[in-house]
Amino acid sequence: MRRTAPAAIAFLIFALISPDLGRAAELQDIKLPQPRLEGGKLLMQALAARASSREFSSAELSLQVLGDLLWAADGINRPESGKRTAPSAVNWQNIDIYVALKGGLYLYDVKAHSLKSVLDQDVRAATGKQEFVKDVPLDLVYVADFSKINRGTDEDKNFYSAAHTGFISQNVYLFCASEGLATVVRGLIDREAIAEIMKLRPEQKVIFAQSVGYPRKP
Ligand SMILES: Cc1cc2nc3c(=O)[nH]c(=O)nc-3n(C[C@H](O)[C@H](O)[C@H](O)COP(=O)(O)O)c2cc1C
Repeated sequence: MRRTAPAAIAFLIFALISPDLGRAAELQDIKLPQPRLEGGKLLMQALAARASSREFSSAELSLQVLGDLLWAADGINRPESGKRTAPSAVNWQNIDIYVALKGGLYLYDVKAHSLKSVLDQDVRAATGKQEFVKDVPLDLVYVADFSKINRGTDEDKNFYSAAHTGFISQNVYLFCASEGLATVVRGLIDREAIAEIMKLRPEQKVIFAQSVGYPRKP
């Protein structure tokens, strides 16, 4: 297609100021398989196995396991009300789970039970200050959206966001314990740096991150 000179210049300026628009289109949304609600360890056995681990193998998680994990984290468990596996004050549901994989950054779309493409970039290294985070197959980033909490001070919003993230993170811990996965929740994060890379809005705050993978064999 031939462009006239002004149109070509306009296109060039558009491409320069929004280089990620083109890239994001390359990263496809991913529909997750229906979560498997059968199987897994008995709750008391999962609690007995729950632990933090920082020793991961490089083995990837299957899409089924990733989908099951995200559903366990904060998926819809009561379709009639749309309510979730993790509790949320006033049902504010203000925590978004970003999914950092080698192939790119996604957002867990709870309603569609799918991964929405966000960034065609491997951001795992920026999700924490510890060496292992860049090589773990999956780094979750828990991001609070303060605009979804309609009252209170920023301190209140931080407080509730930390609590909400704690419930989600513990769901992930228990799923990992049940599934034989290694995991650790992490607060050691350069929050400004990752917020910039992820292009978060000012009312979005990174609360914690959590690494997940199969345990490294001794
Ligand atoms: C809010 C929170 C933040 C944490 N931040 C980190 C972290 O940045 N890096 C890390 O390696 N572990 C982190 N941990 C994991 C703790 O070190 C771990 O839970 C603690 O040592 C107890 O071990 P356990 O989880 O195996 O019982 C964090 C845990 C919590 C609850």
